[in-house]
Amino acid sequence: MLTNKHILLGITGSIAAYKSAELARLLIKKGARVTVVMTQGAKEFITPLTFATLTGKPVADQLWLNRDAASSNIAHINLTREADALIIAPCTANVAAKIAQGIADDLLTNLALARDQKRCALAIAPAMNVEMWRNRATVRNMAQLAQDGVSIFGPASGDQACGEFGDGRMLEPQDCLTLIEALMTPKVLQGQHVLITAGPTFEAIDPVRGITNRSSGKMGYALAKAAAAAGAHVTLIAGPTALANPINVHTIKVESAAQMLQACLHHAQQANVFIGVAAVADWRVSDIAPHKIKKQHAQDVPTLQFEQTADILHTIAQQEKPPYCVGFAAETENLLEFAQAKRLKKGIPLLIANHGPSTFGADENQVTLIDDTGSHALAQQPKHQLAASLIQEIAKRLPA
Ligand code: CTP
Repeated sequence: MLTNKHILLGITGSIAAYKSAELARLLIKKGARVTVVMTQGAKEFITPLTFATLTGKPVADQLWLNRDAASSNIAHINLTREADALIIAPCTANVAAKIAQGIADDLLTNLALARDQKRCALAIAPAMNVEMWRNRATVRNMAQLAQDGVSIFGPASGDQACGEFGDGRMLEPQDCLTLIEALMTPKVLQGQHVLITAGPTFEAIDPVRGITNRSSGKMGYALAKAAAAAGAHVTLIAGPTALANPINVHTIKVESAAQMLQACLHHAQQANVFIGVAAVADWRVSDIAPHKIKKQHAQDVPTLQFEQTADILHTIAQQEKPPYCVGFAAETENLLEFAQAKRLKKGIPLLIANHGPSTFGADENQVTLIDDTGSHALAQQPKHQLAASLIQEIAKRLPA
């Protein structure tokens, strides 16, 4: 979504300005062209050299530059005309107030006022003390900005630089990046409620041991982010993974297949779309030991009894009014044949097939879509990019 997009990254005078160095780096890594604009206050916290080095471009900070008559170069007009978005992160209470009132007294606030509102989105990531955040003036200004179509990222809650605690922390750079990508994403799932399972499950043997699998959860989490970016309300039911909860996604952590099923049944009624990405255990230990199994003699080897777990995808697909159900199938052989048979057995309209072991934990994946019209292979691509393509494919297939 960010490849070749031109982002104006506005930095204002907040201690959170250090986070913007990382944000600039993340945006560039995603293929965006970044021009940094700094207020006078921002330069008290971090130097323009940092951003010039990271972006490879001089920092814009002068409103009153000599105008180049030949090119009609007016910085506060030209910069926004070339930009796809103006992101102010961190945004102080003062700068937010000025933008809410249409005050333009430096380059950054001029850019906010002079941008073409249809072409150049404006988002702010507020950063301020908790009392400044809940001051009525700020509350009024934020409501005005939201009404004017400005996206407000966060803020987060937690320890503040001043020693106090509460709302007002700038979101972490990775979360800002996710929201910037969402800003640029067509809203093909606006108003839809998407339920997604992700990661492995963990089936206990005794209180300290269990059986799990090598699913990392990356594909399911990427789909959850992509669905949220496309405007959906997303609930993610995830088994044990090392991944951070995605912003703007309601994440519920579970361990076992039975817990995952319960959570899915609870949320399936509100869902229009169900995507089963989790590598759910097919069997669980039927007689979980209440205490740690001890090894008393050298020849002691426990015998485990297994029973099948419920098929979550099939269970959801069999409900009276099922959501549009999408399955994932990791196969090691006869991919298309096994996947088509699995789609019919599960009673679902769409199945996404991939090669089992090679995708686990990898950042890239190659999949084939299997529906009632046949199979359709997508190119190998990074999982986050693939997730965006899959969300578009799913949106195309949803009943009107
Ligand atoms: N699935 C599920 N509940 C299960 C097992 C699988 O919801 N108990 C879902 C997965 O999330 C995936 C799809 O079913 O979307 C296919 O999973 P897979 O493990 O490939 O298929 P299985 O039905 O387990 O069949 P097999 O292991 O025999 O290939």
